[in-house]
Amino acid sequence: MAVSRVVGAAFFLAVALFERCEGFGSGAPASACTTMQPGHLNGTNGTTVAAQTSASPYSIVPGSSSYTAGGTVSVQIVGPVFRGFLLQARQTGMTTPIGTFSNAPNNTKTTQCTTADNSMTHANTNAKENITLTWTAPSTTMGNIEFV
Ligand SMILES: *[C@@H]1O[C@H](CO)[C@@H](O)[C@H](O)[C@H]1NC(C)=O
Ligand SMILES: *[C@@H]1O[C@H](CO)[C@@H](O)[C@H](O)[C@H]1NC(C)=O
Ligand SMILES: *[C@@H]1O[C@H](CO)[C@@H](O)[C@H](O)[C@H]1NC(C)=O
Ligand SMILES: *[C@@H]1O[C@H](CO)[C@@H](O)[C@H](O)[C@H]1NC(C)=O
Repeated sequence: MAVSRVVGAAFFLAVALFERCEGFGSGAPASACTTMQPGHLNGTNGTTVAAQTSASPYSIVPGSSSYTAGGTVSVQIVGPVFRGFLLQARQTGMTTPIGTFSNAPNNTKTTQCTTADNSMTHANTNAKENITLTWTAPSTTMGNIEFV
């Protein structure tokens, strides 16, 4: 009898904020896939806007603290209204997204960073709040993972 191995998962919290500024209204740029930083330009002086250092007002809340091979985990971005985001599941401490997303809520879409549908991003600049995303684990478990 096949038994799915259940792996304890540590979920890590970080949200890249895509603030009002030039470009990227229809999704995070490919250049953000690894750094999780959009690289927006400061419209006043043309330099890249630095990441905030203050605490994020957003939480990434997984619907489950563990996953099984091929199983799905819901994950919610909780906090005030936002417009843009990039979300991935990664092996803890790694930078390559794993698994796939599906059932994109309104105003969001799956996107390809390394492989198809392994990241979620915004589809437009409409206001979003507390959206719930659906992640499907790889067909073999890959140890502890984190959503970033
Ligand atoms: C953009 O550059 C201006 C001029 O240096 C500065 O006053 C402002 O704080 C910068 N904005 C951001 C978001 O870094
Ligand atoms: C542009 O603004 C940023 C943020 O205020 C500042 O750190 C940087 O020195 C400025 N660059 C120039 C060329 O004025
Ligand atoms: C998603 O968008 C469709 C089409 O605009 C709308 O009919 C539906 O009510 C929306 N769903 C939610 C949950 O907002
Ligand atoms: C989103 O979640 C926050 C924190 O739980 C809550 O304060 C806020 O009312 C929620 N917004 C909506 C539209 O449900």
